[in-house]
Amino acid sequence: MNVSVPIVITIDGPSGSGKGTLSQMLARHLNYHLLDSGALYRLVALAVIKKGVELSDEQAVSKVAEGLDVRFSLENGESAQILLEGENVAGAIRQEVVSMAASQIAAYPKVRAALLERQRAFAIGPGLIADGRDMGTTVFPNAQVKLFLTASPEARAERRYKQLCGKGEAVDMSELINDIRERDERDSNRSISPLKPAPDAVIIDSTAMSIDEVFAKILTAIK
Ligand code: DC
Repeated sequence: MNVSVPIVITIDGPSGSGKGTLSQMLARHLNYHLLDSGALYRLVALAVIKKGVELSDEQAVSKVAEGLDVRFSLENGESAQILLEGENVAGAIRQEVVSMAASQIAAYPKVRAALLERQRAFAIGPGLIADGRDMGTTVFPNAQVKLFLTASPEARAERRYKQLCGKGEAVDMSELINDIRERDERDSNRSISPLKPAPDAVIIDSTAMSIDEVFAKILTAIK
């Protein structure tokens, strides 16, 4: 094998499937780089909102994606700060309003095209854990290992509920389930790079599993 080719492990799946946490655990365990591709779509959405650009204006939104001024500042190998035009927005991009906007703008082919090379540039030695929706299908079709994590909408809403309550945000459980279903629907049915497992992906349903159990299963799949 050509040693200069970095190993790429893709982890795709819907929000709340645990892929964010598991990608971080895996990157730390293997000492690999980490690409949180959802953060890029969230950054475009936040930049669009801040600039007062209409979310429905694909042309204008894709211009924002093309010119995105973002830096990930690293601390102990982990992403500590996400700087959008110099401002740390690591917390701001996780707001529900940004989640919904990100899902909307992620359906635009021009936005996806604008972010493609930016994502591929993360694949440097020794390896990369790529977390997203289309990592194994579109961005890294030649990845050596492809994983697809899933869980029922109810289980995912419950995880999100606990997360938001932990941050002191008031949330309504049935609203969360509806939001998740709505987002799933949009992410799975868009014409470009829909959320779906690559044909060669290992599918893991984490509905009734703890994070540690899923992690053990992932390590087995990688071996
Ligand atoms: O994983 P996340 O919730 O941070 O992603 C935010 C939004 O971006 C989500 O609605 C789906 C979209 N997304 C995408 O279309 N493709 C990716 N590779 C990652 C995220």
